[in-house]
Amino acid sequence: MDNNRVRANESCGQDEDFLARSMESADWMEQVRNLNTEYALRTGKVRTYRLDVFGCQMNERDAETIAGMLTNMGYEQVPEDQPADINVFVTCCVRENAEEKVYGHIGALSRECEKRGSIVVASGCMMQQPHVAERIKNTFRHVKIVFGTHNIHEFPRLLHQHLTSGKRVFEIWDKEGRVIEDMPIKRSQRHKAWVNIVFGCNNFCTYCIVPYVRGRERSRRKEDVLAEIRALAADGCREVTLLGQNVNSYGNDFGEKDLFARLLYDIEEIDGIDRVRFTTSHPKDLSDSLIRAMKECGKVCEHLHLPFQAGSNRILERMNRKYTREHYLDLVDRIRDAIPDIALSTDIIVGFPGETGEDFEDTLDLVRRVRFDSAYTFIYSPRRGTPAEKWEQTEPHEVISERFKRLVEVQTEIATQLAKKYEGKTVEVLVDGPSKTNPEMQSGRTRTGRLVNFRAEGDLTGRMVDVEIIRAGAFWLEGKEGVHRG
Ligand code: 5AD
Ligand code: SF4
Repeated sequence: MDNNRVRANESCGQDEDFLARSMESADWMEQVRNLNTEYALRTGKVRTYRLDVFGCQMNERDAETIAGMLTNMGYEQVPEDQPADINVFVTCCVRENAEEKVYGHIGALSRECEKRGSIVVASGCMMQQPHVAERIKNTFRHVKIVFGTHNIHEFPRLLHQHLTSGKRVFEIWDKEGRVIEDMPIKRSQRHKAWVNIVFGCNNFCTYCIVPYVRGRERSRRKEDVLAEIRALAADGCREVTLLGQNVNSYGNDFGEKDLFARLLYDIEEIDGIDRVRFTTSHPKDLSDSLIRAMKECGKVCEHLHLPFQAGSNRILERMNRKYTREHYLDLVDRIRDAIPDIALSTDIIVGFPGETGEDFEDTLDLVRRVRFDSAYTFIYSPRRGTPAEKWEQTEPHEVISERFKRLVEVQTEIATQLAKKYEGKTVEVLVDGPSKTNPEMQSGRTRTGRLVNFRAEGDLTGRMVDVEIIRAGAFWLEGKEGVHRG
């Protein structure tokens, strides 16, 4: 086998071979660990790694698995700004600027790798695109190992192969495999955790690359999810965020209906867990039984991320979103009837091919009607291989930029107004740790997902604190000294 070639494994996932190879992951970890023990005895040094993660929470979660494997193999993590023996990139391809950043960061390491004899490992969504893997192979000689989203568990074998042969190892599967359980994990925080419940996406929104790089929907078994959350709780975790490209279709691949709602009721019973969040919900699949479960489960936070993408029915149809603005507005009404104080956040794309000024006004109108607590706003970026890539952009760049600016202004104004209602109120904050901008302040989140900074003596990481809000801006709340609750 030529390891310098991008290899697409047609048969992965559907056969016994796949299972056998995933079980071998632990054996390969042991082999690499032995190599590192020998190295440490010989040199008195421990090999190091650093992680550079781009994109969404799925990637953050994948990075925790990669960190878990590296730790298991005897590597020590160093901060992002320090040199390491292995530089691992977990990449994102959802928009072009994410990709450009990755190329920039990888390129910037070329000198350092040459000087220190260190290497780059590139993984994640970008690598699932053959033209990207090809460009990496031809342009960045210091990238020694490449794998994709479907064969993360193969990393130890690929690393062993590189360490023992010195050759570059590129292996990317073009198809998803079965869900793999029990991979090692090095969690970035103790009190909060991401928990995958469903991988992949079946929706094929016409602008989106995700279904091509993350494969079809595969749900984890409910018992496996619950076992993981029980173990997290036993380890001091207080908040879980359930992850899926579309959590509302959890269990559909088992032929189970409303399994996601049932999962929420089951998590509600787990002692030690105080807060449950989930992302992302597709508006076409959010059922009344889920709304009921959100209302009835006290641990489910009053926050829902519900991307609407565009406010015009014509654009929604071209995007293949399978709902109308009327459906979305009605859904929001039903959610607010059940949970009046819920904070809503969303994703919005501006400048989708064919979007006219009138279509954009529909987007603004929807933003004004719903009044989101926060919104992630994006300018449309054509993605290779998606249907919309071929569609003509009718509007000049300046017009789209202007629309984007207006949207951000309108949304910021709304977020600021909504924030004001927190002033003078006392809110429950789960503390994440010292604030990044001012270490004298502690920083955490309300149940509604708002960022709160407040003054406190000592480190309250992982504690639940009641904080009185004295000032509120669009993106943060400032509190008085907090009162511990637990
Ligand atoms: N261009 C711009 N934004 C995109 N998103 C997904 N694909 C694209 C694209 N091609 C946005 C959507 C999605 C979020 C994660 O990224 O709003 O909800
Ligand atoms: Fe992309 Fe649409 Fe799937 Fe979300 S639901 S990951 S936007 S294809």
